[in-house]
Amino acid sequence: MLAIIAGTSLIESALFAAWKNTSVQTPYGGVTVKTDSKHWFLQRHGDPPMPPHRINHRAHIWALKMLKVTEIVAFNSVGSLKLKIEPAALVLPHDFISPWDVPTMFDHEMRFTVPEMDTALRSHLEGVCRELGFDVVDGGVYIQTKGPRLETKAEIRYLRRLGDIVGMTMASEATLCTEVGLHYTSLCSVDNYCNGISKVPLTVKEIETNVLKNSERLESIINGIISKDFKNR
Ligand code: HPA
Repeated sequence: MLAIIAGTSLIESALFAAWKNTSVQTPYGGVTVKTDSKHWFLQRHGDPPMPPHRINHRAHIWALKMLKVTEIVAFNSVGSLKLKIEPAALVLPHDFISPWDVPTMFDHEMRFTVPEMDTALRSHLEGVCRELGFDVVDGGVYIQTKGPRLETKAEIRYLRRLGDIVGMTMASEATLCTEVGLHYTSLCSVDNYCNGISKVPLTVKEIETNVLKNSERLESIINGIISKDFKNR
């Protein structure tokens, strides 16, 4: 069974209005997930919305595991570290860097995992996007910062040598999914150039405006995912 996790871009979305709420109790706290009986949907910021550094990722991923989810397609808002990856681009990251925040389910046992993002699910998602006529950047390194503040220009000068896009959520989800054996992929929507990448100064207003602009496109991609089941395993 497939679950969709989305964030800021779909906070206002009516797409899931008819889906039914289910409450799940996990060892990390309660989670509300929506379902159309074939798929699950989780709004990672919740209601009222939690800032990124306070999202209860462990409860989210645990709850999806309890609901027998096997595949997760996540939508994440990012800034771009590369001039050629312009705002409005869609990126399918293949790897991530997140040394500042490494959540784990294994607090009380000696278990180690090799992080990975799912390639079969990524190419399925790429196919869905291309069929809808949306161009995507296939592959890229996502860097997770802690937030909620954006990065300084000096931080971005450093980070641009290491990766392609910056966000505040994806690596935590991907890490926990590996730990509990869930297949995870992400479609990142570029909502801005990172601080100092372009000559135009970055503003929070710019990010908010682009998040709204990009939401319609993300809704049609979600519809595409829901109507075209993933059977590649
Ligand atoms: N930095 C971190 N997270 C983000 C950004 C950014 O520039 N844009 C959207 N999410």
